[in-house]
Amino acid sequence: MIVGEKVRLRPIEREDLPRFVKWFGDPEVRRHLAAYISFSLAPEERWFEGLLERLERQEIVILAIETLDGVHIGSVGLNTIDWKNRNAELGIAIGEKEYWDQGYGADAIRTLLGLAFREMNLHHVFLRVDADNARGVRCYEKVGFRREGTLREVVFQEGAYHDQYIMGILAAEFGVDD
Ligand SMILES: CC(C)(COP(=O)(O)OP(=O)(O)OC[C@H]1O[C@@H](n2cnc3c(N)ncnc32)[C@H](O)[C@@H]1OP(=O)(O)O)[C@@H](O)C(=O)NCCC(=O)NCCS
Repeated sequence: MIVGEKVRLRPIEREDLPRFVKWFGDPEVRRHLAAYISFSLAPEERWFEGLLERLERQEIVILAIETLDGVHIGSVGLNTIDWKNRNAELGIAIGEKEYWDQGYGADAIRTLLGLAFREMNLHHVFLRVDADNARGVRCYEKVGFRREGTLREVVFQEGAYHDQYIMGILAAEFGVDD
């Protein structure tokens, strides 16, 4: 378990899966995530099995986000870890909407970046965010991510194409000499 200022990050357990089904069944939560349909428990369980294998192969890191008093509110992780070039793509979702805009996302990301830069010895962490996800963009800027580029019209949603930004942060920008 890794403890931040407002959250702690812990492994995802099978018992967490019904909450993922609930969260990603909500179009407002799903709006800026890759999932365009909701899933029932059975595919979530299959996803979880695949996840365990990828964790064992050290291809990814994924952790549940809990408040310090133990409420599971979301998950955060590093996908596609590139150990040779020392970079990884970050993904985050806070599924409990009443916890949005209170700094939990920023703290979960800072806590994960501590692991990424101080323990995993990564050099660069980046993410993709919908250009119209103002909450997400603001959250990442607060943590110190910079806009590194724009993927033009890369998302098709609600009948139109939308841009995504690539945002990234280097270990040194997070205060870690590497
Ligand atoms: C995006 C997400 C991870 C951010 O987590 P969070 O805990 O809500 O974020 P924080 O509270 O740390 O920061 C959000 C910031 O955006 C601001 N914000 C919210 N809505 C905004 C808007 N429409 N325009 C500008 N800023 C906005 C908040 O005020 C806050 O900034 P502040 O601390 O300066 O006041 C979370 O809301 C979430 O998971 N949303 C649904 C799924 C998603 O979008 N995932 C990310 C995909 S890349």
